[in-house]
Amino acid sequence: MPGLSRRELLLGGAGTLTAFAAGGLGARQALAADHALTLASLDHAILPDKTTRNMMSFAPDGPPPVLRFRQGRKTTIDVRNSLDEASVVHWHGLRIANGMDGVPYLTQYPIEAGQSFRYDFTPPDAGTFWYHPHCNTLEQMARGLTGVMVVEEDEDPGFDRDLPLNIRDFRLGGDGQFIEFFKARNAARGGTYGTVPTVNWSVAPVYDLPAGSLVRLRLAVTDVTRVGSYEISGGEISGGEARVIALDSNPLPGPVAAKDIILSPGQRADIALRVPDREDEVVRLLLKRPNGDRELCSFRPTGQSAGRDLRELKPLPPNPVPEPDLANAEVLEFVFGWSPEGDAPQASICGSLGYTFWSINRTAWPGDLPGPFDPLATLKLGKSYVLRLRNESPNDHPIHLHGVSFRLLRSNKRKLPPMVTDTALLLEEETMDVALVADNPGDWAFHCHVIEHQKTGLAGFLRIDG
Ligand code: C2O
Ligand code: CU
Ligand code: CU
Repeated sequence: MPGLSRRELLLGGAGTLTAFAAGGLGARQALAADHALTLASLDHAILPDKTTRNMMSFAPDGPPPVLRFRQGRKTTIDVRNSLDEASVVHWHGLRIANGMDGVPYLTQYPIEAGQSFRYDFTPPDAGTFWYHPHCNTLEQMARGLTGVMVVEEDEDPGFDRDLPLNIRDFRLGGDGQFIEFFKARNAARGGTYGTVPTVNWSVAPVYDLPAGSLVRLRLAVTDVTRVGSYEISGGEISGGEARVIALDSNPLPGPVAAKDIILSPGQRADIALRVPDREDEVVRLLLKRPNGDRELCSFRPTGQSAGRDLRELKPLPPNPVPEPDLANAEVLEFVFGWSPEGDAPQASICGSLGYTFWSINRTAWPGDLPGPFDPLATLKLGKSYVLRLRNESPNDHPIHLHGVSFRLLRSNKRKLPPMVTDTALLLEEETMDVALVADNPGDWAFHCHVIEHQKTGLAGFLRIDG
């Protein structure tokens, strides 16, 4: 029976009944989901020969898997929580229904230890995304719970290879064990940096790529703190070339050189790499730093050159993000800064760092609690808005909005790239205008993606009223 596996034949028949009887699941759950994730603790060697204990992953036996979906196709994901604490999974950048957004109490109850939850959504946009917990977020992400998610375009742009790069640090001591996840004095400033930079849970991995081929590098910065400048370097002698083609899942109007790519926590860059022809011409991904660049990973050409050319790629089609009506857009102001004195955060099953340092519109988010809480603003479904984001602090804040993408308009400090995003880096003392159409009803989390800032007050939500 070509094309049909035994498993598929069994679905809806004996297989379903077995699952039903064995698991005691409802009839809907008995059908296998398209994807399954298990949140689990594990020991794993990040540093060579030193096993790090009590890491966390979305799989019981290794790094978080890359999830692949198709644009405009419905998908289902079963999340099983095998940790001994509550969690919840958020799909960063996907403009999906509010109930599937994975924010504790705002969109669903936390998934308690031993329990499962089925997510079910249709991604409207193609590109590079990522997924992470939104419960005890600092610790769970610091221990490893950050994964890359790919939504494939309907039409294949023509790459030979696709290589997701999950870029993040771990905070490990010399013995390979976790050290304190944050320091309060840093949380009140720029955040606490990790000590070991990694790509796909490896230190400086080397990827073999066919010489002369076209590779799509999908950089996803899933770190809890680091704002960095990235660069692809080397390989020009024998035809190597790298161009940024999309930022934060949205295609750029034209490709730009893969230099000075500023990415803050939560941001992504898609890079078209034409691998050099010669095997000795290694290409490197660098993190630029004033005290010396850091090589994060490298790409080694192998074999006979495939002789391809970047011009053979089809341009990525723009995502179907609605164009805001700027002439009729209402302006909503948000100020990001210190928290007013006093209020200590409340305990929650999703954890608390025990400090309040930050606020939005002078209100500090009290923690992941049942609420109800007031939204920072209420938007009318279908209307256009300009969000005026004012940073009155001397630190940078990558400001992230769930459920809706927005366009960068202008800044009082610099010329902004013409981009659509879900996460905008707001520099110290910067005021930035961004615009959106409130086209997705629900309560949408709105917060800084430096997780220590988020978890010490710099969070809230916008309500889009249907
Ligand atoms: Cu990637 Cu609310 O977060
Ligand atoms: Cu998000
Ligand atoms: Cu911040």
